[in-house]
Amino acid sequence: MTDSKSQEDPKSQVEAARKAFDEEFERFARLRDASAQSLSSADAETEERALADFRTRHLGKKSALSACKKLIGKVAPDGRAAFGQLVQQTEAEITGRIAEADEHLNSLVQAARGERERIDVTLPGRRPRRGHIHPITKLRERIEDIFVSLGYAIEDDREIETDFYNFAALNIPENHPARAPQDTFYTTDGFALRSQTSTVQIHALQRRGAPLRMIAPGRVFRRDTPDPTHNPMFFQVEGLCVDRGITMAHLKGTVAEFLRRMFGAQTVTRFRPSYFPFTEPSAEFDFSCFKCGGGGCRICKQSGWIELGGSGMVHPNVLRIAGVDPEIYSGFAFGLGIDRMCALMYGLDDIRLLFENDVRFLEQFD
Ligand code: FA5
Repeated sequence: MTDSKSQEDPKSQVEAARKAFDEEFERFARLRDASAQSLSSADAETEERALADFRTRHLGKKSALSACKKLIGKVAPDGRAAFGQLVQQTEAEITGRIAEADEHLNSLVQAARGERERIDVTLPGRRPRRGHIHPITKLRERIEDIFVSLGYAIEDDREIETDFYNFAALNIPENHPARAPQDTFYTTDGFALRSQTSTVQIHALQRRGAPLRMIAPGRVFRRDTPDPTHNPMFFQVEGLCVDRGITMAHLKGTVAEFLRRMFGAQTVTRFRPSYFPFTEPSAEFDFSCFKCGGGGCRICKQSGWIELGGSGMVHPNVLRIAGVDPEIYSGFAFGLGIDRMCALMYGLDDIRLLFENDVRFLEQFD
């Protein structure tokens, strides 16, 4: 049948429209066998758009079928009803098949999307790497436990200080070298990064008054060049006991008991006269080497003793400035560095290792 013939014969025009539909519909009919797995969601969406175009081409205003509808009125009356019926039937069939294909495609799109977004709850998760308690934290906690059992409170205070708390209140005179920027870090607006935890003595006395028993572990900062025994940032623990009738004997008894609980009942403590502006008298204290027991070894550099920190009786000026009457109360204070103690206990020959944050290093300490 030629085109010119089909144009003349309305029935053949419907048949031609139908044939064109059938041929092109093949592509969508094949999709009926497709499963969600064989079609990506992007492909399914492309097919959906193609089907919408296809619908316009075969059922839209400019479609061959629409042209056939316009012919109904022109067909001779005796064949008009039959022709009208043919057109309607063809249109209903085409509409139905397109709707069916559309529905199927829609379910494929949904299924493909579901597949893409599916979570396999049986897959093993990614286990976060567990950290490890830092040896300094462990040591700090041991020290805290001992002092809490001796009736001491734990104070936590600021790391950035005014000149008053870092120096003046600790009886450190105006011209003292510790105030120089070569020794202490200053912020641009003149605050000091605390260079010792002794600053907490003042805060704690002002806040809680006397009598008082507290320790204050924390970070301190000094402009020291890093080397195996120095860091510009390190940890100290401050101790303070203020009450009526406190003497040097209480200081010695407390420090000795602390060191015995820390390193064993056989530990011996010794005090050497020293000087700190905020204590009078002042003493540094050492304890018998936990490794050799005093005979001399590599850890204690053959001396049998390990230096630990400074101590003394709180200077009356310090008590007064913190609001405590030195005629009624007296007290002792001590301070020690945790980093060096930690290095000794774990056999580290360089305290800088403690701040390299190498997990392989940190994991070695139970
Ligand atoms: C003081 O800081 C005094 N506040 C201690 C004190 C408290 C005396 C209360 C009297 C009463 P000293 O400057 O010696 O003292 O420091 C104490 C400890 O800090 C030292 O024994 C040492 O273990 C540690 N230390 C000092 N500088 C560094 C550093 N750069 N790196 C690591 N540890 C350090």
